[in-house]
Amino acid sequence: MKAHLMRLSRRHALQGLTALATLPALPRMARATAHRLTLAPASQQIAPPNYPATDLWCVNGTMPGETLRLKQGAQLVAEVENRLSQPTSLHWHGIRIDNAMDGVPGVTQDPIQPGETFTYDFVLPDAGSYWYHSHAQSVEQVERGLQGVLIVEEPDAPDVDQDLPLVIDDLRVTAEAAVDTAFNAPHDLSHAGRMGNVLLCNGKMVADHPVKTGDRLRLRLINSANARIFTLGLQGLEGWVMAYDGMPLATPMPLPDQLVLAPAQRIDLFVDVTAKAGEDAFLLQFERDGGYELARFPVSSGTRTRRTAPTALPPNPDFPIDLNAARSVDLITEGGAMAWLQNANFKGEDLSGQDLAQLGQFWSFNGTAGRPIEPLITASRGETIRIRMVNDTQFPHAMHLHGMHFSEVLPDGTLGPLRDTLLMLRGETREIAFQAHNPGDWLFHCHMLSHHAAGMGTWVRVT
Ligand code: C2O
Ligand code: CU
Repeated sequence: MKAHLMRLSRRHALQGLTALATLPALPRMARATAHRLTLAPASQQIAPPNYPATDLWCVNGTMPGETLRLKQGAQLVAEVENRLSQPTSLHWHGIRIDNAMDGVPGVTQDPIQPGETFTYDFVLPDAGSYWYHSHAQSVEQVERGLQGVLIVEEPDAPDVDQDLPLVIDDLRVTAEAAVDTAFNAPHDLSHAGRMGNVLLCNGKMVADHPVKTGDRLRLRLINSANARIFTLGLQGLEGWVMAYDGMPLATPMPLPDQLVLAPAQRIDLFVDVTAKAGEDAFLLQFERDGGYELARFPVSSGTRTRRTAPTALPPNPDFPIDLNAARSVDLITEGGAMAWLQNANFKGEDLSGQDLAQLGQFWSFNGTAGRPIEPLITASRGETIRIRMVNDTQFPHAMHLHGMHFSEVLPDGTLGPLRDTLLMLRGETREIAFQAHNPGDWLFHCHMLSHHAAGMGTWVRVT
């Protein structure tokens, strides 16, 4: 019902635009060219060459799918054609989008049926690193490959020699390098989620990017994995953290030894190549037994002398958070292995833990498993909302709010950097706050996709 209304008002707005465009001397309102995104099976050599290629579901033939690069303020028109056997949708993760374009089946649109095309049409308000992914049967569809990078460029290009999106992922494959199809294995749903047995960077086991000594690189790290938390480090590269989840830091932060990147999070870095010509620089994933290469940067000699520290990226539109006038709500997370649910509400019914497990539901928010009928909170536009999240489970969770960025309320009462996904470790209580500036119904869920499928999803309404 709601989706129809939204679509109608959208069409009106577009007609208005066309009418305007026929008037003479209109300021440049560039007609957006449509991007055609075809979602279809394709195969890709994921494993070493002595293994077969892996059958995936791709956006325009590759995983990650086609990288979309647009300027801040531009309009993105994406005609998404579904040539798969399942209904689907695309969600534009981190974009403070028009609600009707958010890509959540059953909330903001009907799923795109096999053979159908749906046109997403929205403006990109913020510069930064974003990504898109399927939001239908996402445990399966994101794993099979329906994911890609969306870069929104600053009005003035920053002073870097290369701009490299690095999509970090893992994939669970069989001994023949086929995608393991046990997507809803109860063990994954009730524990840490579906973990892969191969690590990927830009769809390869080790991505390769030649660089020169003294080059400054912008690395856009994006975690597109179903559930894996990456602990990353760099070798032969030194620099600064510039942005989290698309949003620039007010002051660039010198690169720490390790960077934690939870599912769906992004980190933008500016790094200078300090390795010598003939050496390799690396992006590494730390495991208990050492560092694994995710990307290799073979270094050749360059003519650049090292630049001074960068200034911050230009800020995106600000929606100030007013903690004094805020309304608060609690979100208690329960369930999962070692803290099994005794009971929870599911689609309006009170069920026992055993019945819930039968339905693949293992987690609850405030006693409800799965998307509740009522929102967690209804906010008036402009109001500040605080959500105190209590992780009463034995697992970490990557909490993602659609449609608006939030700040963490730190223990000393100050606000952390803007983010759209926050990692909370087991047993932690963390609090976030945001200005409810974007009207609509917005999901708030764990981005460990098995956890979302197994109960960890709620929503907020902004009127
Ligand atoms: Cu990245 Cu609800 O999604
Ligand atoms: Cu989770």
